Amino acid sequence: MPCKEEDNVQETFPLRLYPWQKARGPSDLSQNRLSVTLAGLKLASPTMLASGILGYSAETFESIAEGGAGAIVTKSIGLKPRSGYVNPTVVQVSCGLVNAMGLPNPGMDEFAHEIRRAKTVLRVPLIASIYGYSEEEYAQLAKKAVMAGADAVELNVSCPHVKQTGSEIGQSSELLAATVKKVKTIVDKPVIVKLSPNVTSIADLAEVAAKAGADALTAINTVKAMVINAETGMPMLSNRVGGLSGPAVKPIALRCVYDIFEQVKIPVIGCGGITSWRDAVEFLLAGASAVQIGTAIAMKGPNVFSSITRGVSVYLRKNGFKDVNEIVGLSHHRQ
Ligand code: DHB
Repeated sequence: MPCKEEDNVQETFPLRLYPWQKARGPSDLSQNRLSVTLAGLKLASPTMLASGILGYSAETFESIAEGGAGAIVTKSIGLKPRSGYVNPTVVQVSCGLVNAMGLPNPGMDEFAHEIRRAKTVLRVPLIASIYGYSEEEYAQLAKKAVMAGADAVELNVSCPHVKQTGSEIGQSSELLAATVKKVKTIVDKPVIVKLSPNVTSIADLAEVAAKAGADALTAINTVKAMVINAETGMPMLSNRVGGLSGPAVKPIALRCVYDIFEQVKIPVIGCGGITSWRDAVEFLLAGASAVQIGTAIAMKGPNVFSSITRGVSVYLRKNGFKDVNEIVGLSHHRQ
């Protein structure tokens, strides 16, 4: 079955003016109907750039913010440079992408320059995504990122396929708790934990992270997946397995957010297959305080942030809500 194109409210904005800065009268975005405060971070729009997409340079962060994102999450950065896997690293499937890049990144010492540069131009919060091979490494990375100017860190404890990091940490209550606790002792900026859907109970692990001191949670990272070529009989990705993202995972992500919201009190950021304002609204109703957008940028370009934001604004107005925060978790009271 083909993927359904959702009814986005399209709107273009003048270059170098963030969408919510354009005055449009009393019912406008600038009236802050859409602003959220999340773990102490102030976002003018509840949409964020998800880690892993265009997350490497100050220039791309700036163009994503101009496209309407309320915050930017960088590509995941480790202590040492990593070249990642050889091609093919991304395969398109029905309603999504399966990727196994292998966490390519320049290493934190190099990337810290980019964080510093970005902070001179960006007017939205910059969140550094980090991955390590031990709790000490996560703590060291968090410290370096915050010292360079990052407004928060997102712990990638959920990459589905790189050995000894990612989900190998996020799938273990003990390792997850130790990692979050260690990072919290080192930095005084918000610590966001990006959770894996590849577990028996994501809500139980969310609770572990919250009890260890996490300030917010991102749900979800990609779903472990693979693609096989019928002609050659071979797996398509060089790493054989990767992570599925895009509309194919949206119902899984929505269920995860819903489950976490029932069990845990800290804010949840929804992530997984959000391509339209309607998807964003569904995540907010399930309990997300904001949403991250990744794969949809590849499909629709960076203005997807402003079209989603405007659509959410119209939805709120039409349904008599004054503020986006009024609909967070509303579906839990509707049965
Ligand atoms: C990669 C990292 C992730 O966290 C993920 O979910 C998928 C892919 C990567 O760099 O390969």
